[in-house]
Amino acid sequence: MRLTVLGTGYVGLVTGACFAEMGNHVTCVDRDAAKIQRLERGEVPIYEPGLEPLVAANLRQGRLRFTTRLAEAVAGAEVIFIAVGTPPRADGSADVEDVLAAARDLGACLDHDAVVVVKSTVPVGTTERVEALITEALSARREILTVDVAFNPEFLKEGDAVNDFMRPDRVIVGSRSARAIALLRMLYAPFTRNHERLLTMAVRDAEMTKYAANAMLATRISFMNELATICERLGVDVEQVRVGIGSDPRIGYSFIYPGCGYGGSCFPKDVRALIRLAQDAGVDAQLLRAVEARNQVQKRALFDKLTARFGQRLAGLRFGLWGLAFKPGTDDMREAPAVTLIAQLIEAGATVSAFDPAAMTAAQATLPREWFEAGRLQLSNDQYDALEDASALLLVTEWKQFRNPDFARMRSAMRLPVIFDGRNQYDPARMAAEGFEYHGIGRGGRGSVEAAALRLRAAG
Ligand code: UDX
Repeated sequence: MRLTVLGTGYVGLVTGACFAEMGNHVTCVDRDAAKIQRLERGEVPIYEPGLEPLVAANLRQGRLRFTTRLAEAVAGAEVIFIAVGTPPRADGSADVEDVLAAARDLGACLDHDAVVVVKSTVPVGTTERVEALITEALSARREILTVDVAFNPEFLKEGDAVNDFMRPDRVIVGSRSARAIALLRMLYAPFTRNHERLLTMAVRDAEMTKYAANAMLATRISFMNELATICERLGVDVEQVRVGIGSDPRIGYSFIYPGCGYGGSCFPKDVRALIRLAQDAGVDAQLLRAVEARNQVQKRALFDKLTARFGQRLAGLRFGLWGLAFKPGTDDMREAPAVTLIAQLIEAGATVSAFDPAAMTAAQATLPREWFEAGRLQLSNDQYDALEDASALLLVTEWKQFRNPDFARMRSAMRLPVIFDGRNQYDPARMAAEGFEYHGIGRGGRGSVEAAALRLRAAG
């Protein structure tokens, strides 16, 4: 099939490359000329395992093309995907201007029948607006074409996006057009061969499904983070509770890891957008507001533990921080808990040496320049260098290489053998045996600040 993908961001690029890999001819279009030039050379601007080789191979074989010219890109395309950004507005709602502009532009240049598929995450009702704008633009040009519209959300995890696209749990298609559904079914058949995984529904139902999936996952995390706080106060280890409840198949083990808050480009934005969408529909989304509020609190959890441990005397102290990206396997720092923590430490007069296996360049490019200029934040090339003279290690992102580090080397580099483990990666008993004072999340009785304080008091 001939396909066009509008927007070469994270979603557009993965979609384009994966469809090309299955033998389709895909043209990706973006208004950012510099980005298109890089992509034409096979350079992928984002860190995503497996994506660059996929782009390079399909470029070489002539199935994947990049351009800045929309009219050229849509020529002959049977299916056109809109995968442009829907960034958050100040009030939390999703800004769909780029999606609507794409619809107008398509209406202005289409000269053949096609199916237009919205892939960007959009508020309920947006795909209907896309359809109306295309129809309007076509009739202004007196073009009589059949352009059917569908909504087909992405469920791609950063760091595993190619895999998620190639082996989807489900493919959701919202459309009232039998033709659009039939074409998409054909297009997705190679990805869903062994089981029928394509679910069709009304457009609005599909738009809500995308928000609902992310909001549910965010709710699980905030629930666990709240539970962790309660556990800590009651002398309960949340890690035992996690395993205890996860064994119930109705609950399951995934997405119940307490930590220092969820981040990234999807959860925070989508939860806020859904709250806003509810509000506009006259519903106070109390639970979702609590999910969001708990996450804000959670992103400050490590700092609160630090002040509980060191008092207000953080000024002049140096801290080693492991993990800048919002999660392992990506260099994405959007809404990353590490950024909130560094800001708080700098505000309190401390300095930070940070290390991340992938996000160092992203950190240099996106964090406030003053942080670097004033020497408050340094990026270390090595995880152990980041601990030189540190009063504590702050573990924020659970990259695999942090799981079983050289504890002796850490101890000898650090000023104090103290670990604040924002992802509960270490066993408190082992930490004690290694000679570390350990503070986890929700590890009451075993690894909490209170327990450490009690031990210190007992020791006189
Ligand atoms: C998410 C969804 O998973 C994906 O389906 C959607 O389309 C886009 O958003 P992503 O943002 O890449 O993907 O990250 P994900 O792996 O889902 O993690 C989100 C955040 O939750 C991370 O900050 C992670 O650290 C945090 N998290 C996750 C927890 O704190 N605890 C958990 O148990 C799981």
